[in-house]
Order: sequence, then structure tokens, then C-alpha cells
Amino acid sequence: MNHSAGRPRTADAAEAWEEFVQQQVYPEPGKKAQADYRNYDHPARDTVRQFYQENHRRQTYEFVVAKRAEFLPLRRRQMGVFEACEYLNTLVDDSDPDIDLDQLQHLLQTSEAIRADGHEDWFVLTGLLHDLGKVLCLYGEPQWAVVGDTFPVGCRHSERIVYHEYFADNPDAHDPRYNTKLGVYQPHCGLRNVLMSWGHDEYLYHVMKDYLPEPALYMIRYHSFYAWHREGEYDWLCDQHDRAMLPWVRKFNPYDLYSKCPQPPDWDRLRPYYADLVAKYLPAQLAF
Ligand SMILES: [Fe+2]
Ligand SMILES: [Fe+2]
Repeated sequence: MNHSAGRPRTADAAEAWEEFVQQQVYPEPGKKAQADYRNYDHPARDTVRQFYQENHRRQTYEFVVAKRAEFLPLRRRQMGVFEACEYLNTLVDDSDPDIDLDQLQHLLQTSEAIRADGHEDWFVLTGLLHDLGKVLCLYGEPQWAVVGDTFPVGCRHSERIVYHEYFADNPDAHDPRYNTKLGVYQPHCGLRNVLMSWGHDEYLYHVMKDYLPEPALYMIRYHSFYAWHREGEYDWLCDQHDRAMLPWVRKFNPYDLYSKCPQPPDWDRLRPYYADLVAKYLPAQLAF
């Protein structure tokens, strides 16, 4: 896939964050992290650190409520899935010669890896769709409000969230309404009643919620909630349904993180298969 000139260079922190998550924080099962991320000397490190600093400082309960009101009415634009893919694909970092994996390639590599393992078709489709919420970047949203680990707001931040120390700068951490273990929530109230930090996961969940099976919706909505699906935190907010869905979220994660293949999938060849798959589950136009 060629990167044409003139595309917005807005994906740098997003790319750096993903590489950081794959190599430093959550390396492939059985492999060790390349180094302790806090002491890791890497040019991308400062970008990632700054990213987390902003994200942890500014994702407050109030901020999330405002972003939900702004975006969840889904009145920005109507798009088909392929149009959304092409639109998202304008999000590449042309400034970095090492990063040759654009957004569409990431989606296709994820979905093709799921398909190669013989999973059900809705699971394959979820691979193709899971990051389409990143179109938020193209609406001019800052990266700290689109990507990154997600976490509940309105209650204490788990210490297992990466760069937890930056929450010290988040006003909610000093607000007695929001800084206890349960905060504004009831024990085991269910994640559907919990506000998550704002980003592409929650946004896309709302775009897709009427069309996909429940496990697919959990994969989309919570794929960046590492403190839950990797670290086992926040069970005190989960109900039995969340617990039943957690294995699906865990099943999805390796395909998202580790499915970079040397031979990039050929979009033009695969498109007829995906056109049928998309048409089976989704309407021609979706409200974003
Ligand atoms: Fe994602
Ligand atoms: Fe992804």
C-alpha cells in the first residue's frame, strides 16, 4: 500500500503507543519485555511518556461525560465500512520510514490472522472493524483522547495501569467523589454502567452496537482495557455477564497485538470476501 503525500501526520503517538504496548508492557506470551519500559532508551519513549502524561492528566469524569455528549449522538457522518476504512487509512505517519504498516493493513492483518485460525465469521469481521473508531483523529481529536489504554473514570485508578504515577496530575485523583475504590459506582454494577476513559473503543462500540453478536461488541468496547483483560483488575465493578465475556476479549487481544505478518495481505484480492462479510452483518451506511 502506497502512502500518498499530503496525508495528515497525526498517527505518530498512536503508532508509538502501540509499539510500546506490544514490546514493553505486554510482550507476546512466553516472551520477556525488551526492557523495563521506565528505563528503556528508545527514541519513541519520550513520545509515549508524554502521551501517557497527557492522557492520565486529562481523562477526567467530566471530560468523558462531555465527549460522550459530543460524539455518541453519532451525527458526524454516514459511512459504509469500506469508506470508513479508506478514510481511516489517511491516518499514517509519513515521517517515520520504519513504520510501513498503515491502519488498513493493521485491520486486515488482524482479521486475516483470525480467519486463518478458523474462527467464526463475526470474529473475523471484528478484526476488520475493531479500530475504525480511530476516525476520531480525523475529526481533529487529540491522540490522548483516541488511543491508549482505557480505564474506568469516576473511581480510583488501578495501580496496574501503565504509568500510573501520572494520575497524580488528574484532578479526579484528588476528588473524594471519584478517588475511592468504587467511586460513583455500586459493587458489581456491570461494566455497562461504568464510564470508561474516552477513546476509539467506546465510540466504535456505539456505532456497532445494534449489529454484532455480544462477544464481538465486548472485543470492540474493551480491547484497550488492559488493566481488566491483562491485569485482572476492576473485577469489583464486573457482573456475571462481564465475567462471561472476558475470555472473548482475551481471545481477541493476541490478534490485535501480534499479528504483523511479513507478507502484507492484498486488499484488492481480499475485498470481495470482506464485502460479503460486511453485507451479512452491517447496513450499507453506518452512523458515525
Ligand atoms: Fe484499538
Ligand atoms: Fe488494533
